[in-house]
Amino acid sequence: SYNIIIQSQNDPPVYDDEQEGLKEQIKIYFSHVVAEDTPKGLAAQRFADLVEEKTKGRVKVIVFPNGSLYSDKDEIEALRKGKVQMIAPSYSNVAELVPEWEVLDLPFIFQNDDNVERVLTGKIGEELLSMLEPKGFKGLAFWGNGFKQMVNSQMFMKNPDDFKDQRFRIMPNKVIKKQFNMLGAEPIALSFDQVYESLEEEAFDGQENTISNIYSKRFYQFHPYVTISNHGYLGYVVMVNETFWNQLPKDVQKQIMKAIEETTAWNMKQSKQQNIRQLEEMRQNPNIHIHTLTEKERKKWQERFVPLYQEYEAKYGKLLKEIRNAAS
Ligand code: LMR
Repeated sequence: SYNIIIQSQNDPPVYDDEQEGLKEQIKIYFSHVVAEDTPKGLAAQRFADLVEEKTKGRVKVIVFPNGSLYSDKDEIEALRKGKVQMIAPSYSNVAELVPEWEVLDLPFIFQNDDNVERVLTGKIGEELLSMLEPKGFKGLAFWGNGFKQMVNSQMFMKNPDDFKDQRFRIMPNKVIKKQFNMLGAEPIALSFDQVYESLEEEAFDGQENTISNIYSKRFYQFHPYVTISNHGYLGYVVMVNETFWNQLPKDVQKQIMKAIEETTAWNMKQSKQQNIRQLEEMRQNPNIHIHTLTEKERKKWQERFVPLYQEYEAKYGKLLKEIRNAAS
């Protein structure tokens, strides 16, 4: 049976299937933490619409944005327990489960959006997704948001030394923590839903995030110095509870996969355009200051990260090589 067991007050409302005459309807609760008008928010809704259309209403995907159901700290556990059926956490957040995925957060591992797309939608992408299976999850696809930039309350981050003693909010991820330690900064791991209120309390001086996240949550109000560094990529893994997935009729699985594939192709283009458009809008705002890292500055950052690459070459050299080959 596909009925969802309601266990706590935080769970979504129960739908009265009998009354709606939809006894056979399969419901997928899709929980995520960002705003609706972001690459992930828009992709989730598009996927929901496509699934409903393709299955003629037999499957209903109900999207809960803005962490309204679960924060990124709790959503993986909620998926494991079957309280929701689908989530799309950043793969940085999932690396705690699958340590190999840390390589995806190495600074400057991806040069541009095409690199990202080639790696994550190809054979390596599949290989990475299969690593979720022993953990009880099925990974359906990678979605993109965009490249991360550095924002700060009072200065640009031009040189590695500019990071010294600066408190930076990070996602809980080992390689991101190491990156900021190497820059001499103080990384503070915090889930996304806590960022805004911590900003109000001035709990940190800067963070790394994509333009669409900075724009949609208005983080620039607190951190108006934006350094366009494109040093890391923020991407997502769309995942379902494996037991739930295996219970679905084969034809339903097939339609869901079709909807995922269409959404992924759309998302890769949409996310790129949205980040470009919103950066342009931010440039029009006189209160926001923007500096694009020069080639020379970028080289200095990269030199700083040599020991980090040495460490990961030793640990996951084969995977790194595969990623580099697939990217080029
Ligand atoms: C973050 O924590 O900054 C991101 O993972 C949020 C998101 O899901 O885009």
